[in-house]
Amino acid sequence: MTRPQFDESFSLFPLSEIIQSTDSNRKVKKLLETFSCTRNTDLQNFLYNKAVTFEKNLRSRTYLYIDNSTQQVAAYFTITISTLHTDGISPEVIELLDGYKDDVASIPCFLIGQLGKSDKFEPRKIGEYILDDAIEIIDQSQKSLGGRFILLDAINKEQVIKFYEANAFFPIEKDPDSESIKMIKPYFEVLDEKT
Ligand SMILES: CC(C)(COP(=O)(O)OP(=O)(O)OC[C@H]1O[C@@H](n2cnc3c(N)ncnc32)[C@H](O)[C@@H]1OP(=O)(O)O)[C@@H](O)C(=O)NCCC(=O)NCCS
Repeated sequence: MTRPQFDESFSLFPLSEIIQSTDSNRKVKKLLETFSCTRNTDLQNFLYNKAVTFEKNLRSRTYLYIDNSTQQVAAYFTITISTLHTDGISPEVIELLDGYKDDVASIPCFLIGQLGKSDKFEPRKIGEYILDDAIEIIDQSQKSLGGRFILLDAINKEQVIKFYEANAFFPIEKDPDSESIKMIKPYFEVLDEKT
């Protein structure tokens, strides 16, 4: 699916707008439950059970892609500000990530907390467009505020890591037994910093 086809098929709405313009919580819940993700039940559970509370309590911002033909949730992402805890990261890498010190316990960053498409759209390659949109919104904040990188916890599956690597993220940890791997997309020039 090309980007123009994607834009024609789906409309992107902030969840906060949907909550404001819908007259009952039940209707919002019903809409969110049109999304299904059997490959990643955490992704589904977040949307069903946490997204609205997090939105109302300003913990994060969720954005929904609504399928223009069925009015179902085709995909979504959740973004927020966060901190990376540096336990287990080498001083050299801490300095690279922090941009100033090599011994800080945490580093502020932007977080893509959730991102994925519904099972109903599985055969169509649309992940890149969803990720681009999430990054574009974060970019706008980063331009005003600074911030060194975008963080996400990728499922530790080869194809998922490859998907993020193809979109300018790279892993900052390696643990073959871990369920997830932290990956970042830096705003700084990695090569310049190392030289
Ligand atoms: C990750 C994602 C957005 C990428 O979307 P896409 O670019 O349209 O591409 P695909 O759905 O074909 O996924 C790319 C590859 O990753 C694999 N993959 C994606 N999510 C996976 C998961 N949760 N577990 C195992 N493999 C997964 C796909 O099977 C595919 O493998 P292939 O290239 O061998 O066919 C999408 O696959 C998705 O929404 N996955 C489910 C939710 C999820 O796991 N999100 C990632 C959280 S870190």
